[in-house]
Amino acid sequence: VAPIRVLVLGTGQMGSAIARLLLDKPGLQLAGACGKRPERAGTDLGLAIGLGRHLGLPIHADLETAVSASRPQVAIQATCSRLLDAAGEIETLVQRGVHVVSIAEEMAYPACASAPLAERLHRLAVAHGVSVIGTGINPGFVLDVLVVTLSAVCAEVDSITATRVNDLAPYGPTVLRSQGVGLMPEAFREGLARGSVTGHIGFEQSIHMIADGLGCEIERIDQTREPIVSRVHRATPYVTVEPGHVAGCRHTAVGYRRGAPFITLDHPQQVCPELEGVATGDAIEIRGRPGVRLSGSPEIPGGAGTAALAVNVIPRVLAAPPGLHTMLDLPVPAAMLGDTGGVGRRASACATS
Ligand SMILES: NC(=O)c1ccc[n+]([C@@H]2O[C@H](COP(=O)([O-])OP(=O)(O)OC[C@H]3O[C@@H](n4cnc5c(N)ncnc54)[C@H](OP(=O)(O)O)[C@@H]3O)[C@@H](O)[C@H]2O)c1
Repeated sequence: VAPIRVLVLGTGQMGSAIARLLLDKPGLQLAGACGKRPERAGTDLGLAIGLGRHLGLPIHADLETAVSASRPQVAIQATCSRLLDAAGEIETLVQRGVHVVSIAEEMAYPACASAPLAERLHRLAVAHGVSVIGTGINPGFVLDVLVVTLSAVCAEVDSITATRVNDLAPYGPTVLRSQGVGLMPEAFREGLARGSVTGHIGFEQSIHMIADGLGCEIERIDQTREPIVSRVHRATPYVTVEPGHVAGCRHTAVGYRRGAPFITLDHPQQVCPELEGVATGDAIEIRGRPGVRLSGSPEIPGGAGTAALAVNVIPRVLAAPPGLHTMLDLPVPAAMLGDTGGVGRRASACATS
């Protein structure tokens, strides 16, 4: 079977990690890349993603050209966070008959940002016989898909609390800017008011995904965002944080059901938390019958986890009916070992029989 040809959109931190992972997967072929930065156009992809060798694949600056040159079956979008920014590229790909996996946060549950635009993408995907999905570590897995999956053992759910304490150091400038990393606390608050600092993007998506997965309604979502001010010097390849400057954002969201908090998501994100003795980790608590608690430290790695999810979901996206999907619509996500990652297995068959 010929490997599945994959085009990567974006050669930032995530796009590069995804491209490197694709090179390791026998059932997949890195077919090309399209970048946003004009100055990188024509650069060999292997050099751009830090392989230290040529791949013979120049980075394209124009998506139509990239599709013509690489003839992909599927594209992974790692260029942006917002549905409005993601939609144009997705429409171009869908119209060319290319399946799409996006890690844009708002694509994890696109109707939250715009139901009409989500509907338009769905109709377009159906018309062109391809599937589109949003995934990623969060939203897309830790604070939603994993919560929904754990709730499967509960007869009743009274409330849910999930916390993710993570390290922003693996992320590129897009994420760091949106978290206000490196700013003075006053500039962080001004950025919040202006909208240039957003904290985590994806709480609405996660809360609605959980509620829809459980089959209940959320009346309103309240959110708070506070700067995490550093007491020490911290540095990543993209940002330097001096003492007194902002290392990240503690962002919390509460979804209300029947007038009471039902889903609480707490997400303090900062660069290099270990420098102040902060341990990263994920914790989910479902109060109900039975109650369920699951926690682990350190955090499930955000960068590597997002790259793996974007790649692992490919066989499931190709096997899905045409249309716009969420992670709740596809079979249980899993690592992609072998060429197909388990897609196509039948319950009546057993590998050893
Ligand atoms: N759902 C999730 O769990 C999840 C997880 C991780 C990230 N994300 C989202 O996915 C997107 C990509 O993440 P990322 O960490 O790869 O972001 P990134 O490194 O900032 O790259 C994103 C875009 O910014 C451009 N870019 C990168 N470095 C730049 C620079 N120095 N100057 C100007 N432009 C630059 C890249 O251009 P080129 O196209 O030219 O490379 C790329 O298209 C972000 O919007 C992020 O929020 C979602």
